Amino acid sequence: MSNRMWGGRFAEGPDAIMEEINASIDYDRKLYQQDIAGSKAHVRMLAARNIVAGEDAETIAKGLDTIQAEIEAGAFEFSRALEDIHMNIEARLAELIGPTAGRLHTARSRNDQVATDFRIWVRDTLDTLDEQVTALIQALAERALEHAGDVMPGFTHLQSAQPVTFGHHLMAYVEMFARDRGRMRDARARMNECPLGAAALAGTSFPIDREMTAESLGFDRPTANSLDAVSDRDFVLEALSAAAISSMHLSRLAEEIVIWCSAQFGFVTLSDRFSTGSSIMPQKKNPDAAELVRAKTGRIYGGLTALLVMMKGLPLAYSKDMQEDKEQAFDALPSLSLALAAMTGMVRDLVPNTREMKKAAGSGYSTATDLADWLVRVLGIPFREAHHVTGRIVALAVERGVALHRIPLEDMQAVEPRITADIFTVLTVDKSVRSRTSYGGTAPANVRKQARRWLQRLEREAKKG
Ligand code: ARG
Repeated sequence: MSNRMWGGRFAEGPDAIMEEINASIDYDRKLYQQDIAGSKAHVRMLAARNIVAGEDAETIAKGLDTIQAEIEAGAFEFSRALEDIHMNIEARLAELIGPTAGRLHTARSRNDQVATDFRIWVRDTLDTLDEQVTALIQALAERALEHAGDVMPGFTHLQSAQPVTFGHHLMAYVEMFARDRGRMRDARARMNECPLGAAALAGTSFPIDREMTAESLGFDRPTANSLDAVSDRDFVLEALSAAAISSMHLSRLAEEIVIWCSAQFGFVTLSDRFSTGSSIMPQKKNPDAAELVRAKTGRIYGGLTALLVMMKGLPLAYSKDMQEDKEQAFDALPSLSLALAAMTGMVRDLVPNTREMKKAAGSGYSTATDLADWLVRVLGIPFREAHHVTGRIVALAVERGVALHRIPLEDMQAVEPRITADIFTVLTVDKSVRSRTSYGGTAPANVRKQARRWLQRLEREAKKG
């Protein structure tokens, strides 16, 4: 049997393989709510513009409500032969209300229909992700405030560089996730235009009201060009790129957590709630949640790459290739959502081992820069020369296997005679971090201020709703 919706000119039905490659119902059934909302908005507009009778529009809208209830009750029979969610719903509508159902598709095509449904899904998903990123930012800022004064080693090249505070380190991620949130908001604002009414590609001769459908579906305005409306997938791409960048940030933090909770580092202890054990090694506590957050990045980048490649050769307007957009987003965006939730849980629960971190912060001659800065500040030595003098003192410390502040004054004076005992006031890690008061620096007072600024901002946002 040929397709009931478009089979008029076909003598034969599709090959089984054709049906398999063509059908999207197995995944686009996820869009049933958006599809029904879109259809209701469309048919009410058609009635308002006297394109269909008001009575018919209400019969159709009621039928659609029944279908929604059927789907939600698990009582709806999805059919592959009907290809996709749009035709599955329309066919059921015809069963329920008879030929009046056929009026719904006036001045519309599946091309603008799917573009509308999917935009709504991506938009609403971005809103959920926005809330989740916000929760993560909040958790990080709270932990940062709590640990604004706890010293840890700061690294470059994963080599001990200069002491920083744990709070400062966490606040670095607050900045990253705040930018991610900004990107999601930008994408949302740009994508919030309604394609419905672009019809197949050229618009329609019916006197439709696109402003009306756009508004009733929560869009800011209708799309301005019908060809673009049905062939643009920037909205998914932007959401996926924002997601990809955010998952990269999550993955970096996850990687740090994995490193930090190794026995060799011992900087943090993960809660049991976000770890697993080993079936053979009883002593093990593995950071699986962090590892999986790190791993999810692969499929999120994969979704972005797949869609970019899929789109790059498509002439205007719609091509069936675009049907493949959905699975990518349906996998990538919920993956990000899960990763955000897991990371937020880990951040809330993790216990920093502040003594271990402080001990590590003092190793590796991490206050050497403070020593050099003292030579510049107090003795007026040019920084390059101070760097050299400090290098010689560090070499002494290395030779003796002691920390910088354990080198006796006389030995330092043998390198640079003008050094006084005052030098010892800058050589401890606490002094070091406290001195870094430049804007954006790691001084605990700075960190506290930044953490509070963020927490207050989030509170204001929450109040505004
Ligand atoms: N299932 C299709 C998709 O997801 C709907 C649009 C089909 N349009 C068409 N002209 N065949 O893209």
